[in-house]
Amino acid sequence: MALGLTEVLEGWDSVRSSELYGVDAWGNNYFHITPDGFAGVRLRNRSGPVSVKFHDIVQGLYERGLSLPILLRFGELLAARLAAIHRAFDKAIAESGYTGIYRGVYPIKVNQQQQAVSDVVKFGRPFHHGLEAGSKAELIAALAYMHDPEAYIVCNGYKDAEFIDLALSSLKMGLQTILVLEMPGELDLLLERAEKMNIRPRIGIRVKLASSVGGKWSESGGESSVFGMTPPQIMAVIDHLRECGMLDCLELLHYHLGSQVPNIREIRDAIYEASRYYVSLVEEGAKMGILDIGGGLAIDYDGSKCNCPTSANYDIGEYAADVVEGVITVCNQAKVPHPTLISESGRALIGYYSVLLINVLSTHTLEVPDPPEPMPEPIPDPIRNLMEVATGLRTRNLREFYNDAIYYREEIQTAFKRGDLSLRQHAHADRLFWHILTRIRAEIAHLRFVPEDMRNLKDAMADVFYCNFSVFQSLPDSWAIDQIFPIMPIQRLNEKPARLAVLSDITCDCDGKINHFADMRDIRSALPVHTVGPDEDYILAVFLVGAYQETLGDLHNLFGDTNVASILVDDDGEIEYEQELDGDTVGDVLSYVEYNPQGLLARFRELAEVAVRQKRISATERRDILGAYESGLRGYTYFET
Ligand SMILES: Cc1ncc(COP(=O)(O)O)c(C=O)c1O
Repeated sequence: MALGLTEVLEGWDSVRSSELYGVDAWGNNYFHITPDGFAGVRLRNRSGPVSVKFHDIVQGLYERGLSLPILLRFGELLAARLAAIHRAFDKAIAESGYTGIYRGVYPIKVNQQQQAVSDVVKFGRPFHHGLEAGSKAELIAALAYMHDPEAYIVCNGYKDAEFIDLALSSLKMGLQTILVLEMPGELDLLLERAEKMNIRPRIGIRVKLASSVGGKWSESGGESSVFGMTPPQIMAVIDHLRECGMLDCLELLHYHLGSQVPNIREIRDAIYEASRYYVSLVEEGAKMGILDIGGGLAIDYDGSKCNCPTSANYDIGEYAADVVEGVITVCNQAKVPHPTLISESGRALIGYYSVLLINVLSTHTLEVPDPPEPMPEPIPDPIRNLMEVATGLRTRNLREFYNDAIYYREEIQTAFKRGDLSLRQHAHADRLFWHILTRIRAEIAHLRFVPEDMRNLKDAMADVFYCNFSVFQSLPDSWAIDQIFPIMPIQRLNEKPARLAVLSDITCDCDGKINHFADMRDIRSALPVHTVGPDEDYILAVFLVGAYQETLGDLHNLFGDTNVASILVDDDGEIEYEQELDGDTVGDVLSYVEYNPQGLLARFRELAEVAVRQKRISATERRDILGAYESGLRGYTYFET
């Protein structure tokens, strides 16, 4: 489809695109649209912020031989988020007279990729930002990267002897490793291993709060949560530690409400309840000193700033102020010293870190602007009725004729199923139906009042944009829990995006699509996009995908990890491609599901050899076919141009 001149001339500009896609609302000043209509990211070099266009990044990647889809990582944005959370807590502490300090730990599970963890350690170092490990593997990774003696390593999750030994060894070596008990049953093993290693452990307890939260992960907290200890279980641990003379090893109280808590009131309730547990443990004689408030700090994915699951009715500053105020109030009442505060924010730190770029491979539209050619007689009744709807359609009878068109279409489908219509007649009727709806959609655009049942016609008639990615691999939360991610084109943003589209991936799964998009007022089921030219490299960016998406993704249809590039700007403002990682090859993903690429090649060679013997192909063809098979095994799992 050629670009309509009206799209350029209608007085559209980048400011209107910014409003339409809500960039200023969800972009947190990191993302923006340039006056000449490109999506940009604000990075920093030594002279200050530099705006970099995604379009320029992509051109550089193409020159380096990397193709889309590609995941871009911006260490700079992670550094900015780390600084923001520490600034917020430091300010809240300074303004309230709080006598404790703040130390964060990054939960590795939120993005376990080596580069993500090493970037957290690098950019977190000035703040002594530590790591949270929820499994043995995460602890093994943490210990290779976290060597800051002032940062904490918090070990959550169920722990076997090996896990405990490793944590205790790191404590012996001078790291601040704390083992958090999820259940009372873990204590015996912990004490046994500590005695064997002749070390006094640093112990934490995870409490199950009564306070629960809304949002998509509400089951992680509250009394129905499967994690954490109840008051009787906590008392059992206290008594046991007292009997062993080890109450001084109990230093930390931890809770986790769930991820993406959208309502600040629930965060406030929880902090009061947790602080009550904290002071009670001090009163029981435990050493204490640290309150770990878990994760939950939300990201405003849709920019609406409300307490709906995809947003948050607070910012980092308010979060820190409310946490500090809650703890100070309860501790002062009980005359207990203010603890060191640890938060395990993951999503809010690393969500902004990654942006997924996907290219549109083809488009499909339901729109039929011209009436179909006349149909040869005899014309079956339901089709004749539909033709009369097309002829009689006027502004004043839109609603009636809309309902008629739907009714006759159902009749046509039934007649086809019964064998009363040929496929050719069915196809003709289908074109006629969409022609009628195309005209109705154009008419209602001029109406002041649109009847209820016709209101979503625009979205229902959205185009389908087939994009080079797999929802299951790159945006698993979009598929699994309808998570919203901001999406917009990276180019032509000074032209009016005159069309609406849903995005289909290239898995052949009917769930492999995105049909819910960020909007400040509501969730919309189609994304405003431009008319895409036949050979145009039209690229969409999916933002805020740094948290949870990379490792939750699966190999549905054997689409593997995408290419990855890590982007910086140098002091001259030039783009630096710090690290490029090739995505999985076809051979890689096949080996993940137990195939041996060499074995596959041998089996295929056998097939080709038989075909030569049977004279179906020549020996030269065999060589070319085997060459193509081998190069397929080495190739990218996504669509290659
Ligand atoms: C124990 C624990 N801490 C921290 C987090 C991170 O939460 P968020 O990403 O919401 O900050 C999680 C994830 O759900 C968790 O289970």
